[in-house]
Amino acid sequence: MRKPINDHALDQIFRDARSYNVWSDEEVPDETLTQLYDLLKWGPTSANCFPMRLVFLKSQKAKARIKPHLIEGNVNKVMTSPVTVIIAYDMKFYDRIPELFPHNPGARDWFAHDEKVAFDTAFRNGTLQGAYLMIAARALGLDCGPMSGFDNAGVDKEFFPDGQFKSNFLCALGVGTDELLFGRSPRPAFDTVAEIL
Ligand SMILES: Cc1cc2nc3c(=O)[nH]c(=O)nc-3n(C[C@H](O)[C@H](O)[C@H](O)COP(=O)(O)O)c2cc1C
Repeated sequence: MRKPINDHALDQIFRDARSYNVWSDEEVPDETLTQLYDLLKWGPTSANCFPMRLVFLKSQKAKARIKPHLIEGNVNKVMTSPVTVIIAYDMKFYDRIPELFPHNPGARDWFAHDEKVAFDTAFRNGTLQGAYLMIAARALGLDCGPMSGFDNAGVDKEFFPDGQFKSNFLCALGVGTDELLFGRSPRPAFDTVAEIL
């Protein structure tokens, strides 16, 4: 086995990482967003299909476009965040398989002719990529505020009107504060959710 990353890193990425609701004034430079992408892109997807699409909402003007589609409890979290990213997936991800999976360009056909397989693949791998984004963000020292409380259809109409991309979830990014942070909720014990056969 390789050497494990150290406890500081494990605390920052997992044990001390929380889902934040309120943000400090500290900005997130565009350069940090490209660093974030340059880490998360290495997370694996099936046949390297890479369905993720990202829209970073940084300006007030951009955030105002999503505001009407948020549940009330998420409005402040988004509007006061330094940046909120729409994590979406490409329903036609398979068109890029010849480029992204060069050792088997024909893998495009595994997905292109079966809508259900294509959707399942896009959603599964796009969701994984959203998780990679949160892990990468925390590794870079950013805090996350993931949210699924919004009207996906409304967001898709506003940001992806041609129907090719579908929103999955949102993630506010910045430096979180303890305000409105409830106590850490428990996680089930290993034996409750896992078995080793
Ligand atoms: C995909 C996803 C969607 C979520 N949606 C919302 C949301 O819409 N509003 C909200 O306040 N919290 C939302 N949460 C936050 C969760 O409630 C939170 O991550 C969970 O309670 C664990 O909290 P902790 O990370 O601080 O331990 C969401 C989390 C995830 C991962």
